Amino acid sequence: MILTSAPIGKLKAKNRIIRSATNDHLGNPDGTVSDAEIDMYETLARNEIGTIITGHLSVSPNLDYRADEMQLCIGDDKYIEGLSRIPEIIHKFDSIAIAQLSHAGPKGLHPIDFNQLSTDEMEKIRDWFVEAAARAQKAGFDGVQIHIAHWYLLQAVVNPDLNQRKDKYGGSKEDDIRLPVEIVEGISQRCGEDFPILVKMNVHNTLEGIDDDDLIEYYSDRLHQSGVVLVELSGTDFTRKDRKAELYYIEEARKLKNALPMLPMSLVGGIFSKETIEKALEVTEFTSLSRTLLTQPDFLTKIRNGEIDKSRCIHCNKCFEIFATKYERCVFGPVIHKLEENFQKN
Ligand SMILES: Cc1cc2nc3c(=O)[nH]c(=O)nc-3n(C[C@H](O)[C@H](O)[C@H](O)COP(=O)(O)O)c2cc1C
Repeated sequence: MILTSAPIGKLKAKNRIIRSATNDHLGNPDGTVSDAEIDMYETLARNEIGTIITGHLSVSPNLDYRADEMQLCIGDDKYIEGLSRIPEIIHKFDSIAIAQLSHAGPKGLHPIDFNQLSTDEMEKIRDWFVEAAARAQKAGFDGVQIHIAHWYLLQAVVNPDLNQRKDKYGGSKEDDIRLPVEIVEGISQRCGEDFPILVKMNVHNTLEGIDDDDLIEYYSDRLHQSGVVLVELSGTDFTRKDRKAELYYIEEARKLKNALPMLPMSLVGGIFSKETIEKALEVTEFTSLSRTLLTQPDFLTKIRNGEIDKSRCIHCNKCFEIFATKYERCVFGPVIHKLEENFQKN
């Protein structure tokens, strides 16, 4: 099952494994792609990952609104040429290249309170996403994923406890999802229906402790009707999960699949072994991995060769910190030796 092909919109992924978007902190401070990143994408693609989603790319033309100082930018045409190196290297290995588009919003270097923005400013942000998708297409990416998870701008907008807006972008579930829907419709019109649009969403979209299963169902259905071809299901608490926990969001995914059987999905979070990949694939068409591939980009090759059946990741979450002091990405040391070589050269 893991190695069988499956469609993502009109594309055909060669297997069911997606590298979920993982901010690599390897970008150049001016928002451009570094050689180290190309080495990283090459390593992932060489090791048979069927679909590779980039780390989140900032759609704002202003670098000050990025999530961090190493985040790549897609907010201007000048970035297209550098970004084109990513799909180019991924395509050499017949894998699919998806650009993740994001606005950091409240989590940016300069946090934005979207409740204070005018309707025109919200529309401008919508247009940035659409323009960013057009740039991704021009750069050679096969599709885009809209980041509506992990407390970045769009996830805050779709959270009814955080969205206090009184215009068309807030006040009811129809209005709370309007901005992502307009983004998807805008991209579809601009890039054509053959250019797949994916979304990443949290399974829960209210503050903790509130039963909101109906919300993810409504949002997913609405986005699917607008042209989304795959929903990747995530959550905000993946770093707080018990070390023994696995398949963090599978029960929510199962419910959503039962409600919307025609909507293709991928499950992300707590998938660290061949067994958990197989369990996820009993529910969703794809399964997405982040930390597993961060520490072992050759995880799938090794599984296929029967060399391992579990990731060496110990879920310590130091990958969120190590980049600040070392070029390595993981407590286990330099994952991709070429990265280290490049670092020493620079
Ligand atoms: C270092 C790091 C960077 C991440 N960057 C992103 C990102 O840019 N965009 C995104 O949607 N998720 C990001 N994530 C979240 C992952 O895609 C994934 O949802 C989460 O790690 C749970 O999956 P896992 O258990 O396979 O690690 C990041 C995770 C890690 C560990």
